[in-house]
Amino acid sequence: MKIAPSILSADFGHFARDAKVIEESGAEYIHIDIMDGHFVDNLTFGAGVVKAIRKSSKLVLDCHLMVENPEKYVDEFAEAGADIMSIHVEATNHIHGALQKIKNSGMKASVVINPGTPVDAIKPVLSMVDQVLVMTVNPGFGGQKFIPECLDKVAELSAIKSAKKYSYDIEVDGGVDDKTIKACRNAGANVFVAGSYVFNGDVAERVEKLKSSLAV
Ligand code: DX5
Ligand code: ZN
Repeated sequence: MKIAPSILSADFGHFARDAKVIEESGAEYIHIDIMDGHFVDNLTFGAGVVKAIRKSSKLVLDCHLMVENPEKYVDEFAEAGADIMSIHVEATNHIHGALQKIKNSGMKASVVINPGTPVDAIKPVLSMVDQVLVMTVNPGFGGQKFIPECLDKVAELSAIKSAKKYSYDIEVDGGVDDKTIKACRNAGANVFVAGSYVFNGDVAERVEKLKSSLAV
């Protein structure tokens, strides 16, 4: 079980400080949301910020690209020090090739599905990915309400994983808090992104609260 606080909800003027705060909280990943203003109606930052965070943290940098044609940025993110690169199946016509490119770069390859996208859309690439990210809100903004219907897809991915003996992690992202995290875990998720829940309080306390919710 891994907790991945999202720096989308951190202070954009203090990424290095907040990366340290996340590291000291006992979380396993730092989730970094990259948005291009096309695939989603919001703009954040690019590989330069990943490179800066890499300098101040040893944690796994879990980069979630909400950008069109993400295959264009693989080399840039690998060089910046990203560990995991998540790309949306809805954002490219070449999901297999794009994931292959990520794997060849040495990063872990992760495929993402939006709330309206069925598991069927990614079945052909499940044998090659290190992680599947199931969005539990529509991407673009932090602080949205969890969409419980998405958990059916988490359960479906968990069943496929057992049946085919695949080893991918199942990550959920959006509206995860100390209550919704349990339903995610019960459906089969093992990596949990949380932005507003973690940063709307003391980060270490909130990460601890998420971990203790998983323990019961
Ligand atoms: C939304 C992002 C999320 C966001 C989650 O598009 O992908 O990672 O930071 O924020 P919360 O946890 O507030 O829903
Ligand atoms: Zn995200």
